[in-house]
Amino acid sequence: MRTQVAIIGAGPSGLLLGQLLHKAGIDAVILERQTGDYVLGRIRAGVLEQVAIDLLDEAGVGQRMHQEGLVHGGFDMLFKGERHRIDMNKLTGGKNVMVYGQTEVTRDLMEARAAAGLTTIYEAANVAVHDFDSAKPRVTYEKDGKQHEISCDFIAGCDGFHGVCRASAPRSAIKEFEKIYPFGWLGVLSDTPPVHEELIYVNSPRGFALCSQRSATRSRYYLQVPLTDKVEQWSDQAFWDELKLRLDPEARAKLVTGPSIEKSIAPLRSFVTEPLRFGRMFLAGDAGHIVPPTGAKGLNLAATDVKYLSNAIIEFYQDKSEAGIDSYSERCLKRIWRAERFSWWFTSLMHNFPENGAIGQKLQEAELDYIIHSEAGARSVAENYVGLPLDFGQ
Ligand code: APR
Ligand code: PHB
Repeated sequence: MRTQVAIIGAGPSGLLLGQLLHKAGIDAVILERQTGDYVLGRIRAGVLEQVAIDLLDEAGVGQRMHQEGLVHGGFDMLFKGERHRIDMNKLTGGKNVMVYGQTEVTRDLMEARAAAGLTTIYEAANVAVHDFDSAKPRVTYEKDGKQHEISCDFIAGCDGFHGVCRASAPRSAIKEFEKIYPFGWLGVLSDTPPVHEELIYVNSPRGFALCSQRSATRSRYYLQVPLTDKVEQWSDQAFWDELKLRLDPEARAKLVTGPSIEKSIAPLRSFVTEPLRFGRMFLAGDAGHIVPPTGAKGLNLAATDVKYLSNAIIEFYQDKSEAGIDSYSERCLKRIWRAERFSWWFTSLMHNFPENGAIGQKLQEAELDYIIHSEAGARSVAENYVGLPLDFGQ
C-alpha cells in the first residue's frame, strides 16, 4: 500500500491529524494497535482551551462539542477549608474553557473519519517504522496473521507514551527529560450531578482532590493517593468518605454520591523528548511529552502539536516548502515547555509532599493566599489555565 502520511496511533492526536490532512486533500492511513472500542474506553481529562476548540472546528468535528460542552469562565481553588474563585474570564479579557471529555472528542473524530470513508487499520500488530532518515520511509505491520507494508512520504508518530516511533529514534539523537511524582490520581466517574457548577481544585493536608464533571448528570472526581495504592483497595464508599474529608463544609454537604462507573489510578509524570523530528518521522502528542493532569494541558498540547504538524505537511505539498517541517520541533517545544512548567508548578502547589513536612503545607497555603489576593497572581494562573496564545513570545 502507498499513502502520503502514515499515522501511527488512533488517539486524539492521530485522528485529528488525519482529519486536518484530509481537509487539505492529503492522503493518510492510520495504524492502531488496539480496537476502536478499547481506544474509546480510556477515560482522560476533559478541559479544552480555545485553541483546541478552534482546531476541532477547523477539522469539522466541533458540532456536538458546542451543543454538549460546558463553557466555564472560572474555577475554584480550595485551601485551608475555604473556596476562592479564579475568574478566568475577567482576568483574561473574556477567555473561557470548554468542559468536554476527551472520550467524546475521540468519538467525534472517529465518526468523522468513518463518515469520510478514510482508512484506519485497527488491531495492527508489530508496527515497525523504517527508513525515516531517507525520502522513502516505510511502515510494516501484521494484521490477521499477514505481514503488510505501507510506503509513504512521512511518518507521524501519534502513538502515545508507550509507542513504537519514539522508541525507534536513534538513541544518540534523542534527549529525554523526566520527573515522576511520588503519588497518583485515583479517578471516579459517576452518574451523579456535579457538586459545583465549575471545577474545584483542592489543596488539603490529606492530599489533593479535584471535583470535575462531564455533564449536568455525570461527575468526575479525583483523589491524590500513594503510588503503592491499588484500585481494589478503594471501595466506592471509601472514595466518597475520603473526598468529603478534603472538601469544604458546603461542598461536603452538597456532594451527591453514587456507584462508580469507572475507577482507576493514574501515575503523574512530567516528560519531554527532544527533538520531535527524526528525518521524515515526527512525534506529536503523548509520544513526545507528558504533563501531569493538574491543569488539563495534555490534550490541548497534543492539539497544538498537530496543528503545527498539519500546517507543515500541507506547506510541503502545496508550496513545495520544507520551512514548516524544519521548524516543527523547535516551535512545538517552546509551547510544550511552557505548559510543562505550568503543569509542574500547579501540581507542586496543590499536592501533599510528605517529604516537605509541615512547612511545605504552610508555604503552599501562603502562595495560594497570595494568588487569590493579588490580581497579578490570579491573572498568571488564569492566563496559563485558559492557554497561552499561539503567538505567545513570538
Ligand atoms: N502501534 C500502533 N498503535 C500504537 C502503538 C503501536 N506500536 N503504540 C501505541 N499505539 C496507539 C495507542 O493504542 C493509542 O490508541 O497510539 C494511540 C496513542 O493515543 P494516546 O495515548 O491517546 O495519545 P495522543 O493521541 O497523543 O493523545 C494525547 O491523551 O494521555 C492523553 O493527556 C493526553 O489528552 C492527551 C492525549
Ligand atoms: C477531568 O475532568 O478529568 C479533569 C479536569 C481538569 C483537570 C484534570 C482532569 O485538571
